[in-house]
Amino acid sequence: MADSPVIYDLIGGEQGLHALVDRFYALMDSAPEARRVRAVHIDGLDRANAKLFMFLSGWSGGPALYTEKYGHPRLRQRHLPFLIGTVERDEWLWCMSRALDESQIPPVTIEYLKGRFAEIADFMRNRQEE
Ligand code: HEM
Repeated sequence: MADSPVIYDLIGGEQGLHALVDRFYALMDSAPEARRVRAVHIDGLDRANAKLFMFLSGWSGGPALYTEKYGHPRLRQRHLPFLIGTVERDEWLWCMSRALDESQIPPVTIEYLKGRFAEIADFMRNRQEE
């Protein structure tokens, strides 16, 4: 259907996406539940915030800001310098889950996004654990 809203619109467009990403990184920066994933971000959170916003904009059907500036995301490859195991994955998802639950996004969209983020975050793991 040509006039059905894309996920970007359901998130609340540019403003809604900024609110989501800002809250996500604020939680990462402050919550004890996110201590390990925060520690992976050795250069701080500002650049990560700007890039996640740009990536999610295009990924959700809005302006393709990330690919216009940086080209193909190659997300797994770009995460290889950082050690990501199940703890880091789960803490990333904890922050995102909580930011989504606090947002104005419709519940059915939140459930959809949680499922997709869980898949992408799991794909980002690059450290074997016993
Ligand atoms: C699974 C746990 C994850 C960890 C520990 C993690 C960690 C990081 C770190 C440390 C950076 C570098 C930030 C910087 O440049 O200063 C980064 C970049 C990035 N992350 Fe993640 N991330 C995770 C999952 C995800 C997921 C699920 C997504 C997408 C939904 C994502 C999207 C991005 C993007 C777009 C960048 C910028 C890549 C670049 O251009 O260099 N990350 N991440």
